[in-house]
Amino acid sequence: MVRPTKCSVKSIGATYGVIRRQLLAADLQCTTLKECAKASGLLHQLKVRTLLDLPCGDFHWLSKIDLPVEHYIGADIVPELVARTNSLHSRPDRTFLQIDLCNDPLPAADLLLCRDCFVHLSEDMIDLAINNILRSNIRYLLTTTFPAGRNRPIRTGDFFSINLCAPPYNFPPPIKVLDDYVPSYEPHQLALWEVESLHNIRRDPPAYAGGPR
Ligand SMILES: C[S@@+](CC[C@H](N)C(=O)[O-])C[C@H]1O[C@@H](n2cnc3c(N)ncnc32)[C@H](O)[C@@H]1O
Repeated sequence: MVRPTKCSVKSIGATYGVIRRQLLAADLQCTTLKECAKASGLLHQLKVRTLLDLPCGDFHWLSKIDLPVEHYIGADIVPELVARTNSLHSRPDRTFLQIDLCNDPLPAADLLLCRDCFVHLSEDMIDLAINNILRSNIRYLLTTTFPAGRNRPIRTGDFFSINLCAPPYNFPPPIKVLDDYVPSYEPHQLALWEVESLHNIRRDPPAYAGGPR
């Protein structure tokens, strides 16, 4: 089983720091907040009681939204982020945990929000993460996908525009999509699936065997 080494956890943290600085551009902040508000409306529609936000990063965007859920669980692989979100944002209805999406058992939840994560993982790690989600007791998956994205091999910590409906992932059409980008960026969405509907998808063999990890 591929577990991230201490070094790769560190590089994930470093990459994330760079991303956060880019995201602080005002137009992006505004759009992301709008998208979070839309996601919050969707949680209400789906009657989500327990939300698992994995990865939650620094909880920056969602801390600004009054989430319509009974219990929010934010989790991330980077221990420093978890310690920080815990000290700044934990409440009786909010828990922050250190969880590796690829290898750790996932807490039961009505919906897993997995925003901007697969885009930074190698194909092996995405496989582990999807299999982990399929083993979990989670009803819905709301995650980032690029409708015209091009799946390609990357090393964990780099970036690619993942298209979950194209090979090798072959997800069915999502139940619902929320746009999650500003006009100058490549269109991408938060797309919703019932986890149950992902059990029988035709999963192509790793297209990039021997490629970057
Ligand atoms: C681009 S950030 C997205 C954070 C948040 N979802 C957001 O939209 O702001 C990517 C996050 O994924 C986390 N991460 C990367 N690999 C992970 C893994 N295997 N398990 C859990 N978190 C992971 C990183 O630590 C980082 O916080």
